[in-house]
Amino acid sequence: MYPKPLIAAVALGAASLAGAGQAQAADLTISCGAVGTELTLCQQGVRAWEEATGHSVDIVSTPNSSTERLSLYQQILSANSRDIDVLQIDVIWPGLLGNHLLDLAEVLGEDAAEGHFPAIVENNTVGGRLVALPWFTDAGVLYYRADLLEQYGFEPPETWQELTEIARTIQDAEREAGNGRMHGFVFQGRAYEGLTCNALEWIASFGGGTLVEADGEISINNDRAAAALDLAASWIGEISPSGVLNYTEEEARGVFQGGNAVFMRNWPYAWALAQSEGSEVRGKVGVVKLPHGGEGGSAAASGGDNQSAAASGGETQSAATLGGWNLAVSRYSENPELAADLVAFLTGHDEQKRRAIQGAYNPTLAALYQDEEVLEAVPFFGELYDTFVNAVARPSAVTGDAYGRVSNAFFSTSHDVLSGSKSGEQAVADLERDLSRVKRRNW
Ligand code: GLC
Repeated sequence: MYPKPLIAAVALGAASLAGAGQAQAADLTISCGAVGTELTLCQQGVRAWEEATGHSVDIVSTPNSSTERLSLYQQILSANSRDIDVLQIDVIWPGLLGNHLLDLAEVLGEDAAEGHFPAIVENNTVGGRLVALPWFTDAGVLYYRADLLEQYGFEPPETWQELTEIARTIQDAEREAGNGRMHGFVFQGRAYEGLTCNALEWIASFGGGTLVEADGEISINNDRAAAALDLAASWIGEISPSGVLNYTEEEARGVFQGGNAVFMRNWPYAWALAQSEGSEVRGKVGVVKLPHGGEGGSAAASGGDNQSAAASGGETQSAATLGGWNLAVSRYSENPELAADLVAFLTGHDEQKRRAIQGAYNPTLAALYQDEEVLEAVPFFGELYDTFVNAVARPSAVTGDAYGRVSNAFFSTSHDVLSGSKSGEQAVADLERDLSRVKRRNW
């Protein structure tokens, strides 16, 4: 059950995934993520199923970037490869991969997804087929150094402008005091799916819409969206290290957990690690919802396209991008029923509870948000419950097959703004033009 990196296996040719070189082929192969404690938790869950059923499972690990994982999966599935039975798939992929995935309701029964958040079940239902079961959900949150904010007399920020000011003040004072490596704010700035999540949060929380709205309208070309991107660009080299342009989740966590950042935008999983033994910031961290655009957001709004913010007199609200991962069975699996049984086990109550307590992975079963042991391990699962249930979806449902191109255009152009090669205004105009071209053929 040693995890083989999927990337290496694919490079060698899909055949190697079938267990070539192993004494005995396992009954099933599952691909798991390896961000933070993901792989360890997956191994433990799989081991429990093996013990309960007597079957054996191979685990392959996948690259940390969701964008890279998707292209590997697309290669494997478009070759109709039988080598992976169970796939961990991102919440934005059911539309992209659904044709290659089994209808789990057919194998596990119509009530297979009972108790899971209905919005995620709906997200995972493509053309009436339940192509994946929810495993954990995610929403962007703001981590802060409670000790430093207290020391300098600040409350956690409500707006991005406040965050910018507090980050600058504490960063400068700490550097002055000899802590030369201190940064104000770290986040996911690499040109990949994680930047799509971050940039969507900035823009939506400035009242600048969600890039492509639920009705298919391309809403990105507005002043609020431009202002949000410009504010983010102003952080680079000031409160955020220039290296943030190449950060994914784990690089940001490394800096924060090493005690070298005042604020971090990340997913809930970082909590368990920040609080773990050996963490430099153990016992010093608070978690709140992400800031909103505040006055800067509404002042920048002259004739923006976003109706809701405009209609409510320019009020802006915190926005957390909805993330999360699901387990699916490949249509090309030779053991579909066994694979579906593993999926049901891993996504079930006991495993979700264990993963929530040990790894701060948000359950997708509503009942676990009332569980005392879960709430004790991760208090913000209760405090930020509204953030989790009201998280903003990326436009994957409405753009369907074209989502990959939409997100690529968005994160590349947002990256251009962060790196200073485009203004926010130019970026949102370019994006509108590029997305309109994609839309003409796709939605
Ligand atoms: C997290 C989210 C996932 C998202 C990814 C982006 O893993 O759960 O939905 O696509 O981050 O980096």
